[in-house]
Amino acid sequence: MPQSPSQKALVPFVSVENMMRLVHSIGVETMLLELADVVEADFRRWEVFDKTPRVASHSNDGVIELMPTSDGEIYSFKYVNGHPSNMARGLQTVTALGLLAEVSTGYPALLTEMTLLTALRTAATSAMAARHLAPKGAKTMAMIGNGAQAEFQALAMKAVLGIEHVQLYDIDPNAMAKTEANLAGSGLRVTACPSSQAAIEGAQIITTCTADKQFATILTDNMVGAGVHINAIGGDCPGKTELHRDILLRAETFVEYPPQTRVEGEIQQMDPDYPITELWRVITGQAKGRRDDRQITLFDSVGFAIEDFSALRYIRDRINGTTFYQELDVIADPDEPRDLFGMLQRARV
Ligand SMILES: NC(=O)c1ccc[n+]([C@@H]2O[C@H](COP(=O)([O-])OP(=O)(O)OC[C@H]3O[C@@H](n4cnc5c(N)ncnc54)[C@H](O)[C@@H]3O)[C@@H](O)[C@H]2O)c1
Repeated sequence: MPQSPSQKALVPFVSVENMMRLVHSIGVETMLLELADVVEADFRRWEVFDKTPRVASHSNDGVIELMPTSDGEIYSFKYVNGHPSNMARGLQTVTALGLLAEVSTGYPALLTEMTLLTALRTAATSAMAARHLAPKGAKTMAMIGNGAQAEFQALAMKAVLGIEHVQLYDIDPNAMAKTEANLAGSGLRVTACPSSQAAIEGAQIITTCTADKQFATILTDNMVGAGVHINAIGGDCPGKTELHRDILLRAETFVEYPPQTRVEGEIQQMDPDYPITELWRVITGQAKGRRDDRQITLFDSVGFAIEDFSALRYIRDRINGTTFYQELDVIADPDEPRDLFGMLQRARV
């Protein structure tokens, strides 16, 4: 009978099922609000983090990425993919898993599914950015692209900003119907629209969240009126953008980590000296966010490792004392640290 692993071998693991149970135990909107605050708190201490553009492995079908960061005490990374062609094969565009580790020992402290968590943290980050950039009193948003991220985006804008009305558009009517059905009873008024132009009519916040590997033009310049906030989520890879470049010439653009966004974001279409403002500088009061009612603000979101770090440390704290995780023997635990081979004999038959 193999000897069972010691406590040192065990790492908390949050499965998809446990993540779903955890989210419901907290409440989706409460969790989005709490995540927005945790992400904002980490943006506030941006300078302490180790930062690097994510390591991306591109193929004709999509991209696989590793997203590491550390604040000197905790290290984290996320494995995530982006495959727009997956949907046609009955697979998701984006799936992810993540790990948190103690810098002092290098030992993992948490292993978790991150597909749901990515949708939650992306939506929380969008709403956190909108808190600083969107026009005050915004009540209506457009949600263009009604895939896996869409409901999370709409609910985060409701929870954090008080959005009351969401106007949907997707080229696939089934995606729109799915989102409309999922948001029924959420307290949001939901309108399915016949075009993206109709969806942005009267909206103060415009979220684009589509998936296409080619340069796409979800919004053209003539569609975007003065004073709106654009939350551009789907342009997040070289060659994958959603906005016509003329919009960027009129907008004030805010980004996460410039070395990554210059390559992956909407601003990949612009000259290298196109002016941008780092969002963390707005949050810490070092730069201005929205200046006036007529300004077009653009959050050129690509998703940065610090947002995953925030989400992972939030989950680590939130599962404490709950049954929403299992312990996996991820780490080898020899009786004497150098006797790894001796440990192997525990399972000898
Ligand atoms: N910025 C970030 O942090 C972040 C995080 C997660 C996902 N993403 C990106 O967000 C995008 C959406 O992700 P998802 O998981 O919801 O993908 P998804 O494949 O589930 O949904 C994409 C939707 O976009 C629709 N669409 C495609 N072209 C369109 C068009 N021209 N007009 C309107 N709708 C159109 C599709 O029909 C589909 O319903 C992806 O590109 C993904 O890479 C970004």
